[in-house]
Amino acid sequence: MLAPSLLSADLADLKGAVKLVEENGGSVIHIDVMDGRFVPQISYGQPVVQCLRPLTKLPFDVHLMVEHPEEQADTFAAAGADWITFHHEACIHSHRLIQHIHDLGKKAGISIVPSTPVSAVSELLEYVDLVLVMTVNPGFGGQKLIPSCVRKISELTKLREERSLKFLVSVDGGVNASTLNDVVSAGADIVVSGSAFFNGSMKWENT
Ligand code: DX5
Ligand code: ZN
Repeated sequence: MLAPSLLSADLADLKGAVKLVEENGGSVIHIDVMDGRFVPQISYGQPVVQCLRPLTKLPFDVHLMVEHPEEQADTFAAAGADWITFHHEACIHSHRLIQHIHDLGKKAGISIVPSTPVSAVSELLEYVDLVLVMTVNPGFGGQKLIPSCVRKISELTKLREERSLKFLVSVDGGVNASTLNDVVSAGADIVVSGSAFFNGSMKWENT
């Protein structure tokens, strides 16, 4: 599945961006929320998600690159998020937050930055619906994929099989026409794409 990230869209025309996603094979809309603390920049928040919600039936994966994500889950759920993905590095009681997101009736995702190994989230794998593997340091679109992060995708799919689990593996950062094959071969179920999707350099065919 392709999940275009709105971060690289024309932010003055998010309505047009949603239309582009729908017309070009997007299955999920990836919404990067940045707080200027966990990552340097501030992007957009609940009011933007709320405005986008009536425009499409596609699910929203809200990627929280924020400190204290436990303080934001309720309001993003109310704004229309379908998946709430937060960073393991930003949350001490990740297990509790996953349960809380489920109590809100939403899917829960956990994300890891390039320096965090898969083993750090091993105890959470049976609870989450999604693991988002960051293949760039979070904070900006248009960065180069860090090749050593790709093996985490296969590590996760192996663990999923060994433990008969069902979570999806998503990959985020630096995916373009030249790196797509590597991440798909490693077993990614969802591919996030910001700059390559919105600059038109990556064509996607849903198979
Ligand atoms: C980075 C964000 C990504 C980003 C991906 O911090 O989480 O979703 O927008 O953009 P590209 O595909 O350009 O690396
Ligand atoms: Zn993201």
